[in-house]
Amino acid sequence: MPQNVYDDPDFFAAYAGLHRQQQGLAGAPEWPAMRAMLPDDLTGRRVLDLGCGYGWLARWAEDAGAEGVVAVDVSTRMLDRARSFADGGRIEYVLADLDEYSPDGPCDVVVSSLTLHYVADLDRLLRACASSLTPGGRFVASCEHPIYLAPYEPRFVERPGGHEWPVSGYQREGRREVEWLGHEGVVKFHRRIDTYLGALRSAGLALTDLVEWGPSDDDLVEHPEWAPELERPMILLLGATPAHDDAHDDA
Ligand SMILES: C[S@@+](CC[C@H](N)C(=O)[O-])C[C@H]1O[C@@H](n2cnc3c(N)ncnc32)[C@H](O)[C@@H]1O
Repeated sequence: MPQNVYDDPDFFAAYAGLHRQQQGLAGAPEWPAMRAMLPDDLTGRRVLDLGCGYGWLARWAEDAGAEGVVAVDVSTRMLDRARSFADGGRIEYVLADLDEYSPDGPCDVVVSSLTLHYVADLDRLLRACASSLTPGGRFVASCEHPIYLAPYEPRFVERPGGHEWPVSGYQREGRREVEWLGHEGVVKFHRRIDTYLGALRSAGLALTDLVEWGPSDDDLVEHPEWAPELERPMILLLGATPAHDDAHDDA
């Protein structure tokens, strides 16, 4: 039975209040970095969005000309909200657990925003996605950065003149139960950076991009409230492509 905290009414209501859910991609500070990893032109491409939430990425892909978008999430509430923005069109919403889901057709671009850290069996999911990627296809994902997720007590600690983010448990990979949006026991999975890279490689994907998002000087002029993000990386972005395109000839 997968965790499905996003279907909890109180959690869902708190999530709806997040700036990035009210603003969409414009409210996601790492979006420019993710956009830079994605193909310039999505015309005619088949896109898969893993953990689509409100569907911001799926709608962006449709607007960018994708031939079809499959948007997967385990939460009925999330999918209902996504459909409420625009039902029909070229987006197919699929209710599924990413620990069991496999794409049922070829895709050219797999995207995932802030979801992989909820998946227990990342190796299986990446293998399933890699085997569906067409030659020259792209895998682009963000997840909570391991330095953000590893600590047993993930929080800033005040110190004279600033604050810091003590890191513990980095080498102890696996399940974490954290408080988030007032909800105790939200289950996530901590993996080291080299584990993410190994999982991509084992799936037959070659790394093309790795970004540890943090605000630039220009960002901080516009968003001084992002200054705490200089103390530790919160978001890791990964880009990859099929390592041996000829391995997909019969996909
Ligand atoms: C932090 S939200 C991100 C949503 C969206 N991608 C975005 O960036 O706005 C994580 C999403 O992953 C979904 N999710 C978590 N675990 C999942 C699983 N095992 N299978 C499918 N979806 C899952 C949640 O329901 C939620 O919609």
